[in-house]
Amino acid sequence: MRVTDTTPYQDATLPISARIADLLARMSVEEKVGQMMQLDARDDLEDQVLRMHVGSILHASPERIVRAQELTTQTRLRIPLLVGEDCIHGHSFWEGATIYPTQLGMAASWDADLVERVARATAVEVAATGVHWTFSPVLCIARDLRWGRVGETFGEDPFLIGELASAMVRGYQGEGLTDETAILATAKHFAGYSETQGGRDASEADISQRKLRSWFLPPFERVAREGCGTFMLGYQTIDGVPITVNDWLLNDVLRGEWDYTGTLITDWDNVGRMVWEQKVQPDHAHAAAAAVKAGNDMVMTTPGFFDGALRAIADGLLTETDLDSAVARILRLKFELGLFENPRRPDPERIATAIGAPAHVRLNLEVARRSLVLLRNESGTLPFAGGFTPDAEQRASGGDTSPRRIAVVGPLADDAQTQLGDWAGGSGQAGWLDAQPREMITTVLDGIRKHVPEAWQVEHAPGADILTLQPDPRGDRFDDGQPRPPIVVPAEPDEEMIADAVAVAEQADYVVAVVGDRIELVGEGRSTATLELIGGQNALLDALAATGRPLIVVLVASKPLVLPASARAAHAVIWAANPGMKGGQAVAELLLGLIEPTGRLPISFALHAGQQPTYYNQIRGQHGDRYADLTQEPVWAFGEGLSYTRVEYEDLALEAVNVPPDGAVMAEITIRNAGGRPALETVQTYVSDLVTSASWAEQELKAFRQVRLEPGESQRVRIEIPAAELTIVDAAGRRVVEAGEFELRVGRSSRDERMQRARFTVSA
Ligand code: NOJ
Repeated sequence: MRVTDTTPYQDATLPISARIADLLARMSVEEKVGQMMQLDARDDLEDQVLRMHVGSILHASPERIVRAQELTTQTRLRIPLLVGEDCIHGHSFWEGATIYPTQLGMAASWDADLVERVARATAVEVAATGVHWTFSPVLCIARDLRWGRVGETFGEDPFLIGELASAMVRGYQGEGLTDETAILATAKHFAGYSETQGGRDASEADISQRKLRSWFLPPFERVAREGCGTFMLGYQTIDGVPITVNDWLLNDVLRGEWDYTGTLITDWDNVGRMVWEQKVQPDHAHAAAAAVKAGNDMVMTTPGFFDGALRAIADGLLTETDLDSAVARILRLKFELGLFENPRRPDPERIATAIGAPAHVRLNLEVARRSLVLLRNESGTLPFAGGFTPDAEQRASGGDTSPRRIAVVGPLADDAQTQLGDWAGGSGQAGWLDAQPREMITTVLDGIRKHVPEAWQVEHAPGADILTLQPDPRGDRFDDGQPRPPIVVPAEPDEEMIADAVAVAEQADYVVAVVGDRIELVGEGRSTATLELIGGQNALLDALAATGRPLIVVLVASKPLVLPASARAAHAVIWAANPGMKGGQAVAELLLGLIEPTGRLPISFALHAGQQPTYYNQIRGQHGDRYADLTQEPVWAFGEGLSYTRVEYEDLALEAVNVPPDGAVMAEITIRNAGGRPALETVQTYVSDLVTSASWAEQELKAFRQVRLEPGESQRVRIEIPAAELTIVDAAGRRVVEAGEFELRVGRSSRDERMQRARFTVSA
């Protein structure tokens, strides 16, 4: 058969369903099986495209995207490839692309519009390079801080996650898939993947259907209903069943209750793992049959799926028509993206203007600024010298410019690549790129040097090493050929390095210590047993604190870490997450008061790893409220974050104390900037359902608003929460609003002691 432009499926004037039906009827069983496969483009592309007829590739370097697409033109049906990549906080592995703060850093902005703009700008860069599909956003709820992937999440609260994830999906998918700057979004990892045992990555999630419905599923439901193009299925098992074959989750809930018609992709080798890792399938034929029957559409990086599925069909475990709905869904994506007419190859002209575009760099700075959370600021230590305003060259002016000395110490003060975090440049997932260009990255040291007034002196000493690596004696590969991470050996404190840093600190007016974690402690398969700053960092902080000089701890850490007492008692503490390419500039500006601190914690900080978990919305009911030897309280709780000004909350007033079930709780509160600097205040509204038929969280975030206030200004802020959102999941697993008494709590954070409270009743 010769395929011509008039072959019906090639005819763009026909409806998509007719084109799919025509193409499906022409496909051989091998072509159908291949269409369901996504393989790693770093392997043998000829074999993948010409022999296995793969439908999609991922992890393709710029050259291999072009090569793979050339190869498809040699295939019988010339079905275009879908090219996927993890473009998670920017176009991670494209040299020179804009790398933003990590998802957790962006979450600290509590700003859905900003997150949407980041996703849009990312899509513009990604789409120009021939990538059609990003495996982002992550909607997992981060609860156990030992998990290595906390930094990939939006934090611990389902409502905040839903708001930000929905925005990110909108940003990626733009005006719809026909828009050439749109990329497909992926809601991942569906569902409960983060509920690990002991923080161990991809371990069995011990989680009931009711708990899933209560907290883990709502963000996914939201983006499913809003049209997120694809869902990625988690690695783990729940109650003995791998997600890949979890009929309840995939069919009853996602396809059934939520009517989801998008495409499902497994995570990396989920199908193979059922054989070699979870050992719940005897071989690839059975695993492939089970995955197809459960409704998976695309199978990520299981090369054995090809022979396995064909053997399953030959052995009668599967029929060829069982493949059709998955293949049709994948083809539909390709037709909707218009790939048959325009395979959206890398476009050199668009690459030249989109990658690292000045507008994206500006946006990156904006989101980096908004991602910083000021956690402590004793006696107004910050901003330095009372604060500055930027002059024309972005140098500080206006404050007390008399000469000061700043000691910038710590192993991360000038570590450009670590500042970017996971899924970026040199983080290890893509072999073709070791790092993003150094000159694109402003470290904290760079930022401070650039922004302090001319007469100020800046000295630097690293002060500590963090770790070294040792090869794992069991070899550098797992059974599936995936790299096995080397073993992390914490560095010993180095007396000489500490002495050098102390010498610099002793002469300084301010000591900025930049500490945190490194990529070897972050990510898949890299959970940590402890949360402490490792290596020589704690000894360094103790020694710096002992100098008595004003100590500002800047934590560049993928996730909340446990700080030593010396750091918790420091004059100031800033959490910067992994703040992206412009992070160092943003930190410097914050120190100098060129910008205001506005970030709020999307996740709580523990005092000790043994307190895990420390999330704020825990279920009521336990004996006592502390450990015998330690408080249960986190050091810093969800929603917390300081400003350089003081904002007061006053006069919470409900419009009505009786709310019908189809009505809304309506209230107003006055927010007043009682300090001397501008504020961007995140007004947080929590609701407590005072008596519930099944145990429930003491309070849950139900709304938030951001309000700009000049010094002295006050505003009346309106709060409106539909009664339909005041739900719990009852013992039978139904999401219901239970009539009765509730309390509205409005304040600065989940544990604001001065929260304004008002009671209301929802009638039956
Ligand atoms: C495995 C990770 O769990 C997932 O998040 C990612 O998208 C895929 N690998 C592809 O890189």
